[in-house]
Amino acid sequence: MTKKIKIVEVGPRDGLQNEKSFVATEDKLEFIRLLSETGLSTIEVTSFVRPDKIPQMKDAANLYPQVLKFTQEKGIATPCLVPNLKGLEVAKELGVTEISMFTATSSTFNQKNINATIEEAHARQIEVAKAALNEGMKVRGYLSTVFGCPYEKDIEDKDILDGIQRLLDLGCYEISLGDTIGVANPDQVKRITKLIAKNFDLKQMAMHFHDTEGMALANIYASLEEGIEVFDSSAAGLGGCPYAKGASGNVATDDVVNLLHKLGYETGVDMDKLHDASSFIISKIGHTAPSKFFQAYKGRK
Ligand code: HMG
Ligand code: MG
Repeated sequence: MTKKIKIVEVGPRDGLQNEKSFVATEDKLEFIRLLSETGLSTIEVTSFVRPDKIPQMKDAANLYPQVLKFTQEKGIATPCLVPNLKGLEVAKELGVTEISMFTATSSTFNQKNINATIEEAHARQIEVAKAALNEGMKVRGYLSTVFGCPYEKDIEDKDILDGIQRLLDLGCYEISLGDTIGVANPDQVKRITKLIAKNFDLKQMAMHFHDTEGMALANIYASLEEGIEVFDSSAAGLGGCPYAKGASGNVATDDVVNLLHKLGYETGVDMDKLHDASSFIISKIGHTAPSKFFQAYKGRK
C-alpha cells in the first residue's frame, strides 16, 4: 500500500511574512485559490498578530473570509496563527475554525518574536487554547528553535520534550517542530525524532524545516525514515521569520512533493497545479524562487 504523507502548505503565511513589499490582498487571494486547486488539504492562511510587527499580515481580517469561497466546499483546513486572546477574538468573529499557537524552546527567541518568555507564553496560551477549544476550534501548536536558535547556543533535550508536553497538555492535536533558522542536519533530526518517539506519539508530530543551509530535503528524508508523516512547506520555497536573523525560506512544497512522489509516497498534490500557484506568487513578489524543482520544472515546460 502506498504510504500517505500530509503536507501543510504555509506559503500564504510563513512564505509571505518575510517579504518586504506588501503583496496585495487580491494577489494573496489568487495565490490561495490556485493552491486550493492543487489537492492540498491544509493551507495556513494568515496571522492575527500586531500589524506593526508583521506588516505583511495586516490584511488578515479582510483576507480570511474571502479565502473560504475556495476552501470551504473542498473541505480544506485553513489554520491561522493566533498569539493571544486579542488575536483569538478577531479569529472568532471571522469564523476561523483552526488556530495555530506558537512558542519556542528558547526564551530569547520568544521574547523577540512574541514579547514573552517561555513561561509567559505558556500562561497566555492556557487561556487562548481553553477559549478556542470551547468555541469548537481545532488547535495546532508550533514549537520553534527545536534544532537551533539564533540567540541561545544549546537547546537541551529537556526543553524540547517540555515544550511538546506543554502544547499537548493545552489540547493541541498536532505539534509542528520548527527548524526556525534552518540549521538542522539529518543525524540530529534522527536523534531528536527518536527521543521524541520514546516520549510521545509520532503521529501527533509534524516537521517544519527552513532551508537556510540547503539541508531541508535531507532532513525530511531522515524524518521519513523515523516515521514522521506530516511536513510543513511553502510553495516556491518562500518564507522566513523576521525575528529569526539570517533564516531563509521554508523548504519548498514543490521540492517536497517531488521528493515524496519519487520515493513512492502519495501526497494528493498535482504538480502542474502546484507549479501554477508557485509561478503566480513568484510573478508577484519580484524575485526568483528558491525552489530547485520549481526552476527545473519551469525549464522543462
Ligand atoms: P505585545 O506588544 O506583547 O502585546 O505583542 P500587548 O498585549 O502588550 O499589546 C501592545 C499593543 O499591541 C496594543 O495596542 C494591543 O492592542 C496590540 P495599543 O493599545 O498599544 O495600540 N496587540 C495586537 N494587535 C493586533 N493583533 C494582536 C495583538 N495583540 C496585541 N494579536 C504579540 C505580542 C505576540 C501580539 C506581538 O509580539 C506580535 O504580533 N508578534 C509577531 C509574532 C509573529 O507573527 N511572528 C512570526 C510568526 S512565528 C514563525 O514564523 C515561526 C514558525 O513559522 C515556526 C518556525 O519556523 O519555527 C511558526
Ligand atoms: Mg517557520
